Amino acid sequence: MRTYSDSAQLQSALRGFRHNGQTVAFVPTMGNLHEGHLALVRKARQICDVVVVSIFVNPLQFGPNEDLDAYPRTLAADKEKLFSEGTQVLYSPDVYDIYPEGMHAQTIVHVPELGDTLCGSSRPGHFDGVTTVVSKLFNIVQPDVAVFGEKDFQQLSIIRKMVRDLCLPIDIIGVSTCRDEDGLAKSSRNGYLTFEQRRIAPVLNQTLNCCREAIACGFDNFLQLESHARMKLLQAGFEPDYFTICDARTLRPVTEDTEEVAILAAARLGATRLIDNVKLSLNPVTDWGMLAGGH
Ligand code: PAF
Repeated sequence: MRTYSDSAQLQSALRGFRHNGQTVAFVPTMGNLHEGHLALVRKARQICDVVVVSIFVNPLQFGPNEDLDAYPRTLAADKEKLFSEGTQVLYSPDVYDIYPEGMHAQTIVHVPELGDTLCGSSRPGHFDGVTTVVSKLFNIVQPDVAVFGEKDFQQLSIIRKMVRDLCLPIDIIGVSTCRDEDGLAKSSRNGYLTFEQRRIAPVLNQTLNCCREAIACGFDNFLQLESHARMKLLQAGFEPDYFTICDARTLRPVTEDTEEVAILAAARLGATRLIDNVKLSLNPVTDWGMLAGGH
C-alpha cells in the first residue's frame, strides 16, 4: 500500500494508474476505521481497479463544542486494516495541506435545503464542512467512483446532490449500514459509550424498526408514530434530537410521489450523539395519498 500526505505526489501516482487504463474508486474517511469502513473498501475493490482511501479528521465539519480534539486518531492501526483489505493507496494529508490559507479563508460549498435540515439544523455549518472537504478531496483524487456509508444517510443525499449540481463526473455508491449483533450501527463514536450506555444504545435501531413495521402494516398517522418513538427513546435514557419519517429522496415529508420512505433519527446518550436510519419501499397498491395526509 502506498501512503501519501502530499497531494502533488498522490496525483502523480494516480496519473500513472490512469495512464495504464485503471479505474479509481475513492473512500473518504476520518480514520478510526471499523468494520463499516472496511465494507466500503470492499465495495470499492469490487467496482474499480484501484482503491484510494483518505484519512483526514476535517476540523471544518466540527462545531465549536464538538469532539474534534477527542476524535480518535489511530493511523497505525488504520493502515494495517486498509493494507489487509487490499487498499492500494492511502492519502492522509495534514490540516495545512487541505487548508493552506486557513479555514476562515476557505471557499465553502453549501448544499441548500438538504443541508439545512435535521443534522444540518442541530449542527450548524457541519454539512458545509463536509461538502467543502469532499469537493476538495474529489478534485485532488479525481475518482471514477466514490463510496459512502448509508448510516450517514443525510450526508449521502447531500453529496449526491452536490455531485449532480456541480456536474462532477463521479458515480456515488451507497453501502448499507454495518451493525453489531444487537442492531447498533457501527460508528467511531460508539467507542465513547459507557458500559451502561452501550447496553441502551440498540434501542435506537429497535425504535426505528418498530416504526418501519408499523408503516409497513398500514399505520398512517406519522405524527403519532414520530412522537411515540421520541417518547420511547426518552424512556430508554436518550435525549432525542429528531425522529422523522420522510421521503428518502428529498428528506421532506412523504407525498403521494414518494417511492421510498426513510426514517431518520439522532439522539444523545450522555455526551455521545448517535444517528441511524431505516428505509421502506412503498407498496404501489397502498393508498399513499392518505398516508401523506396523515402526516
Ligand atoms: O463520513 C465521514 O467520515 C466524513 O464526513 C467524510 C465524508 C470523510 C468527510 O470528512
